[in-house]
Amino acid sequence: MPLRSSDARWGALAQFFHWTVALLIVAQGAIGLSMVEMATTPAKVKVYALHKSIGLTVLALALLRLAWRAADRRPADPPAMPRWQVRASRLTHAALYALILAIPLSGWLFNSAANFPLSWFGLLHVPSLTAGADPALKALARGTHEALFWILAAVLALHVGAALKHHLADRDDVLARMLPWRTRRASASAGDPAR
Ligand code: HEM
Ligand code: HEM
Repeated sequence: MPLRSSDARWGALAQFFHWTVALLIVAQGAIGLSMVEMATTPAKVKVYALHKSIGLTVLALALLRLAWRAADRRPADPPAMPRWQVRASRLTHAALYALILAIPLSGWLFNSAANFPLSWFGLLHVPSLTAGADPALKALARGTHEALFWILAAVLALHVGAALKHHLADRDDVLARMLPWRTRRASASAGDPAR
């Protein structure tokens, strides 16, 4: 598969970013929601550290992904797609990009305002975003972190629902062209009256 995207397909790098971030976000949701329920033990501290390190990885991947997107191209929308759907997809994608940046940033801000030290997998010291402890900001960042996560879950439901609608109802290749193992649907050529 070529590294770059074409008019018909997402390239290998765009797909790598998309599916790695998707996997890590789902893992982060599961880890985040279960770790807050844990009893205070050394294991809890380890799980929190893991959650923070994976979260920082998502932030870095999201930034790299956006940089690559600026340099890469975007496959064309199916010609039959109504304008409102094109607009809705642009809006949803922009919201997803904003959320995968804002969620780890709010976590980092929460950690900073709580005055906890932060490292990336114990390998790299990560600086604080605040000048020491800030209880008001800490409460705000914590609430924001959780609220943004639930907003992401709602937007994702729309996103996945739309991908499945394209595949099962519209029968175009919008989902297939984001999958590494699928080639272009034979029936998806533009304007094919037999569809
Ligand atoms: C946390 C999970 C996910 C995030 C953050 C996410 C985010 C995104 C974003 C931002 C785009 C727009 C790409 C661009 O135009 O630059 C995109 C495209 C896409 N996503 Fe996801 N996605 C996630 C999960 C999924 C899942 C589970 C599916 C499949 C069911 C999926 C299917 C697709 C497809 C098919 C496209 C291509 C749309 C097109 O070609 O216009 N995504 N995703
Ligand atoms: C992809 C990124 C991330 C996702 C999807 C995510 C998701 C979550 C979720 C769902 C929770 C549970 C919220 C609750 O029920 O209270 C949580 C908690 C938490 N997250 Fe994240 N998170 C991410 C990144 C980060 C980062 C980068 C940090 C810090 C550097 C962080 C620090 C925390 C902390 C400290 C808590 C616990 C809050 C508490 O104890 O009340 N998160 N996260």
